[in-house]
Amino acid sequence: MRTSSGTTINRLSFSFLSRKEPACGFRTLHAALRGIALLGFIAPRLLQAQPDKASIRFDQQTQVFRIDAADMSYVLGINEKKQVQTLYWGERLSNADSFAAAHPTPGPSSLDLSINATGQEFVAWGGGLNVEPDLKVTFPDGNRDLVLQYVSHAIEGNQLIIQLKDISQEIYVDLQYQADATTGILRRSARLQNRTSSPLTVEQIASGTWNLPRGTDYRLRYLAGRWAGEWNLHEQTIQPGKTILESRRGSTGAQNNPWFAIDRNNSNDQDTGDVWFGALGWSGSWQISVEQDQIQQVRVTGGPNSFDFGYRLAPGQHLQTPYFYAGYSHDGIGGASRLLHRFELFSILPHAPNPKLRPVLYNSWEATGFKVDEAEQEALAEKAASIGVERFVVDDGWFGQRADDKAGLGDWYVNPVKFPRGLKPLIDKVHSLGMDFGLWVEPEMVNPNSDLYRRHPDWILNFTGRPRTEARNQLVLNLARADVRDYVFRFLDKLLSENNIAFLKWDYNRNWSEPGWPAVTPEDQKKVYITYVHNLYSILEELRAKHPTVEIESCSGGGSRVDLGIMRYTDEVWPSDNTDAFDRLLMQDGFTYAYSPGVMMAWVTDSPTWVNQRTLSLEYRFLSSMQGSLGIGANLNNWKPEDFATAKKMVAQYKQVRETVQRGSLYRLISPQNGSEQSVTETVSEDQDRAITFAFLHSSRMLYPFPRIYLRGLKPDAVYRIAALDGKISAETPLVASGAFWMQHGVDVDLRGDFQAAAFTLETVAH
Ligand code: DGJ
Repeated sequence: MRTSSGTTINRLSFSFLSRKEPACGFRTLHAALRGIALLGFIAPRLLQAQPDKASIRFDQQTQVFRIDAADMSYVLGINEKKQVQTLYWGERLSNADSFAAAHPTPGPSSLDLSINATGQEFVAWGGGLNVEPDLKVTFPDGNRDLVLQYVSHAIEGNQLIIQLKDISQEIYVDLQYQADATTGILRRSARLQNRTSSPLTVEQIASGTWNLPRGTDYRLRYLAGRWAGEWNLHEQTIQPGKTILESRRGSTGAQNNPWFAIDRNNSNDQDTGDVWFGALGWSGSWQISVEQDQIQQVRVTGGPNSFDFGYRLAPGQHLQTPYFYAGYSHDGIGGASRLLHRFELFSILPHAPNPKLRPVLYNSWEATGFKVDEAEQEALAEKAASIGVERFVVDDGWFGQRADDKAGLGDWYVNPVKFPRGLKPLIDKVHSLGMDFGLWVEPEMVNPNSDLYRRHPDWILNFTGRPRTEARNQLVLNLARADVRDYVFRFLDKLLSENNIAFLKWDYNRNWSEPGWPAVTPEDQKKVYITYVHNLYSILEELRAKHPTVEIESCSGGGSRVDLGIMRYTDEVWPSDNTDAFDRLLMQDGFTYAYSPGVMMAWVTDSPTWVNQRTLSLEYRFLSSMQGSLGIGANLNNWKPEDFATAKKMVAQYKQVRETVQRGSLYRLISPQNGSEQSVTETVSEDQDRAITFAFLHSSRMLYPFPRIYLRGLKPDAVYRIAALDGKISAETPLVASGAFWMQHGVDVDLRGDFQAAAFTLETVAH
């Protein structure tokens, strides 16, 4: 994190395409959108109509655009300098409300020019700009000044494109907006076109800037972490200066996640108050700048990281930024999370709006490590099936000469010693037990000790004549290279074509070092930051098209690649290698600020945990994991008959509540943040007929009872029956009561001692 005003700055971290652009004027919006979709980078979903609750209007007289969607209104205007200026972003306004024409905000003095005071939607570096630019370029003659002005626009359904052009050069930028009718979340992207006759270098480009209402009482929330310690929620008052959340690592990273939420400093409630939030859909190096300028304007600008950036854009080419999504909630930070969850499930995931529920899976990584072989995996599969597991996954160790992490990555053939008959007998066995089969891969990496590296030492990211820094004994394949991209696609396609595989756990266990691409000219080498990610997405997209039933998990040594970009191509994510059920409460809480429990894998593993040597009951471990997508990662060979009985019962219970957990509205009733002794979550089904509550106690103190649990999100007049999953609700609790009762009177649970957990369901009954 860095800050330009002396406070500490958190540096926490897009897809660009280059393609010949017709050197003609502005096309129709529909043709423009079709052109984008045809590129394959932006999925065809773009063209699908949304239910018509979003509207985009343009007032010719005032030159004001107004976007209304769900509970949100977003208003922008073209001022007399032809700048596109934000006029309003917040709670939905009356249709009758009108806006006067936009006028540039005067700068307070000669030291603060108007260009810096005017909240523009997308501003280039030039004309005296000092605040964070959306675009900075250098032309071959040394000119670095760029001043963008409105040229034209097109509106079609819930999409708007505004075209800008430099005051003299043939440089065009299309600002693209799409409004989601269900959540009011806006998707923004910018498309830069070079229609000059010379190349230019793009030194910085963002998807756009979000301008908040002017104010000084804002608080920023963001997520930070590291391996085995992801998803820590942080908050800080927004003060004059700049906070940069970023990754310079080549991929998303866990050190900061590309998500932000801003509310008012005095609003502390989970479910009331204004919240502006957003997330970047990019799995490469990224940055989000949160800046309070000299006239107390807060602006949030996001896109690829400008550090070490330099994209040479030839004449006729264009560059499309990643999507930057943002929304507004008047229902507090809880409301903001619920909107994001819905948006992810119904608009982002590959099968949106109907993503499948996550199956209960088993994975032996924590139990057996690299020591996987046919006999042992078959034995584990039998045990997993006996407790109701639906998917059996073989993790690292099945391929090449992989005995540990020192060899084999890159050699994607089945290890003949561990699986002398190939994978088929194991896969058949898994199917005969009623489960489907999943496999671990780490396609973007290579061990120096591998046949692939010995054949192609030039395939990795490197600078000629410089060291090749290893991490976990591995190097990063340069996916930006067409031959590497094809190799990776081909081996995965072969694996999926030759084996009946339902699921891939796609891992990525190190960050970039020496990000050179010697095979291309020095001017084009930095394109690696864009082309790598573009090729990653294209492999995933092509694989999914060719193997439409295969599901994929995004894993990166835990939760280092979780973002709305990778989520368009993957069905679930692995939040952390830390599977300690108590630590997970805090991490899962942080995770759900930005991402849905419906994609959050959570395994029940052994106790004491390898992480903290903490002993936790099997029930506690299950209840912690049941708040997300349940998996089992324990060594079933060490389980006693009573453990199998408990697990069987709890897997069955999970299947009863999983639709609510994975698709419902999450309420954080008691947050585990700030050293809280308790943690309580409630999830209410979409129809509000069912709810599941999970309660956890760290340690009892001084005879205090567990705080009463006041439910939320129920229908006040409906009658609900309560049922404890484990008998730990107070004996005085009525069996049936109104939604109002459960929300106003609340529920007492009998939790005492250390590391205790309880869960109960509510379901409407006819009355
Ligand atoms: C890191 C992942 O996060 C783990 O779950 C496991 O798959 C290992 N890699 C395997 O090397």
